[in-house]
Amino acid sequence: MNHEFYLEKLKSSIDILSDILDTENYGMCIVDRDGRIVVWNYERFFHLRASDVLGKPVTEVLENTRLHIVAKTGKKELFQLQKINGTNVIANRIPLMHQGEIIGAAGTIIFKDTKELGELYERIEKVENSFRAYRSEIALMYRAKYTFDDIHTENDKMNSLKEFCKIIAQSDASILIRGESGTGKELVAQAIHNGGASASYPFISIDCAAIPHHLMEAELFGYEGTPFNGGETKIGKLELADRGTIFLDELGSMPPDMQVKLLRVLETREFEKSGSNKKTAFKARVIAATNEDLEKAVEENRFRRDLYYRINVIPVQLPPLRERIGDLPCLCQVLLPRSRYGYGKNRLTVAPSTMKILYQHNWPGNVRELRNILERAAIVCGGNEILPEHLPEYLQKYNVKPVNDNGKSFYRQEIENLEKRLIQNALMHNHGNKQEAARQLGIQRSLLYKKISDLHIEYKPKKKK
Ligand SMILES: Nc1ncnc2c1ncn2[C@@H]1O[C@H](COP(=O)(O)OP(=O)(O)OP(=O)(O)O)[C@@H](O)[C@H]1O
Ligand SMILES: [Mg+2]
Repeated sequence: MNHEFYLEKLKSSIDILSDILDTENYGMCIVDRDGRIVVWNYERFFHLRASDVLGKPVTEVLENTRLHIVAKTGKKELFQLQKINGTNVIANRIPLMHQGEIIGAAGTIIFKDTKELGELYERIEKVENSFRAYRSEIALMYRAKYTFDDIHTENDKMNSLKEFCKIIAQSDASILIRGESGTGKELVAQAIHNGGASASYPFISIDCAAIPHHLMEAELFGYEGTPFNGGETKIGKLELADRGTIFLDELGSMPPDMQVKLLRVLETREFEKSGSNKKTAFKARVIAATNEDLEKAVEENRFRRDLYYRINVIPVQLPPLRERIGDLPCLCQVLLPRSRYGYGKNRLTVAPSTMKILYQHNWPGNVRELRNILERAAIVCGGNEILPEHLPEYLQKYNVKPVNDNGKSFYRQEIENLEKRLIQNALMHNHGNKQEAARQLGIQRSLLYKKISDLHIEYKPKKKK
């Protein structure tokens, strides 16, 4: 049996239905697959008789019609506001199917009481528009400011890591960034966000170590207004991050109950606000960072193994600054102008003697420590050059020459100084009695004599008064 047969059957049922329907305010039109009119019950609205329009393309007869489109797409459109001859009508457009194939489309319109509906529709449209405006405002507010161009390095390992991050930025897999404090974990997370498809959406950061445990749930999930919380509603960070990135900083500090809830969100890709049972889709990329030994935390049952595997899909390990110490000059160059800018100084450079000191430090605070030191130096520096004395006191200990003018290495000289001090003290305590001093030091008297001679130790006991 062909489709025409079914359309015919449909037409006769419609004729019966028309007698039952409130035809005063209700009309129906059916088109076939090609958008040609086969049923026309709109006579009283448009003053066009069925005999005049049957078989014609609906687009030639009805203003703003979409029936021919629905007859192609098969997607129904319900409660749409349509303007016909200057009047708002509520239109429904439904595809007609037979054995899985589209055979046409039916349209119904209601003329009655559309004023209120029209107003409601306009209000909804306004709300939708402001919602869109707020969404882009949020994306602007929570913009990630760093890009891959802000990651400065001349180190091979760091450069290949940067290239790797550019590749993974294109995927939406979860990433776990590891590295000591101040190695640039957040910088890299932001660059990955900005290098991917979600760059124009928000980058939402949550510091799991800084938020008190009892507030964590509200921060992540938000809550719905209830009579118990005074009707107040809060948007959680999972929702704010919609289509963007949620950055879980210091992941290792996430409380155990939150670990369970987060895992569920990642597995089901949906979440519920507190006080609501409505599910919201979770559509954000997850980037986490930690400087903790997560594997150890897993072994000690402080961190859930299943969550660890769920997040550690792509691990990124940032090397500490001491392992890429060659980056110092390039980092100084980019970090100095930034600090100088704030204090209105002229172009600042790092003196070679200062750079030598920086090379000797082992940088437990990594790039952040370097940035802070340079910022401080930029303030205290009077001229254009950062000199050793502009560095904080704890770095002054490196302010020594590796080889002394007398040809001795710094190390040798320091050992000799220590030996000299020890022997002088022992002699002083024992009023110059070398035998006693050697005994106190736990060395042979002969060795003490040798040291006194080699190190040119002079000891003159104070005369007793
Ligand atoms: N390769 C780099 N080039 C330029 N600046 C960098 C680089 N790495 C880090 N920084 C700067 O160092 C500072 C610290 O970086 P960031 O906050 O990303 O570190 P972190 O690893 O998240 O530290 P923490 O573990 O303490 O949170 C920032 O000001 C950042 O801009
Ligand atoms: Mg950080």
